[in-house]
Amino acid sequence: MTNGLFITFEGIDGSGKSTQARLLVEHLRSLGLDVIHTREPGGSPGAEEIRALVLEGDTDRWSPESEILLFTAARRDHLEKTIEPALASGKIVVCDRFADSTRVYQGITRGALRPMVDQLHQLMIAREPDLTFIIDMDPATGLTRALSRQTSEERFEGFGEGMQRKMREGFLQLAKEFSARCMVIDGNRNIPVVAQDVAKIAKTRLPRTQPA
Ligand code: ADP
Ligand code: TYD
Repeated sequence: MTNGLFITFEGIDGSGKSTQARLLVEHLRSLGLDVIHTREPGGSPGAEEIRALVLEGDTDRWSPESEILLFTAARRDHLEKTIEPALASGKIVVCDRFADSTRVYQGITRGALRPMVDQLHQLMIAREPDLTFIIDMDPATGLTRALSRQTSEERFEGFGEGMQRKMREGFLQLAKEFSARCMVIDGNRNIPVVAQDVAKIAKTRLPRTQPA
C-alpha cells in the first residue's frame, strides 16, 4: 500500500497530452504537492535508450511482437527505477502515456495482438494507474499538430490519418473497459479550458495525506 497517486495521460498523437500533463504538474506543484513528471516510452535512463530504438527509423524496423517486448522492457525499467519508488514515498506521479498506449498501438495497429499485450503486461508490469485522462481529439487535427513538430521520432506518426482514427476508437473503447479510472476529456477546446477540467477531476482524487 502507498499514499502516492499515479496519474496517466493517453490519446492519439498530437491530442495535447504533453501540454496537459505539464499544466497539471504545474498546478499540483502550485498547491505544494510533491509531483514527479515522467513519460513513456522513457522516464528512466535505460528506458530512454529503448525509446530511441523504438521511435526512430523505418515503420517496418521492428515486427509487432518485437515492438511489444521493447515497449514492455522500457516500461518495466521505468516502473522499477522511477514510478514505484516515487509512489512508495507518497509522491504523485504524472506520466505521459503508459500501458494503455501499448494496448491500443501494439494491440490493434498491426493485427489483433491485444491478448499478447495483456499476457506480457500481467507477467511483467501488473500495475494500473489510479486515474487516466484520455484526451479525445479529431484525428486529422491531431495528425497535423503532431507532424508540425518536426522530430526524428516519426515511426508511428508515419502510419497516417486512417490509423489515427482507428487508434482514437481504441482509446474510447479502453475508456469503457476501464471506466473506474479513465476520464475522457474533449481535447478540441482551448488549452486552458481543457486544463481546468483536468485539474478539477485530479483534485477529487488527491490522497488525504497530501496537503490540498
Ligand atoms: P501530444 O503530447 O498529445 O502529442 P502536445 O501536447 O505535444 O500533444 O501538442 C501538440 C501540439 O498541439 C503542440 O504544438 C501544442 O502546443 C498544440 N496543442 C495542444 N493542445 C492544444 C489545444 N487544445 N488547442 C490547440 N493547440 C493545442
Ligand atoms: P509520444 O512521445 O507520447 O508521442 P506523441 O507526443 O506524438 O503522442 O509517443 C511516441 C510514440 O510511441 C507515439 O506514436 C505512440 C507510441 N507508443 C506506442 O506505440 N506504444 C507504447 O506503449 C507507447 C508508450 C507509445
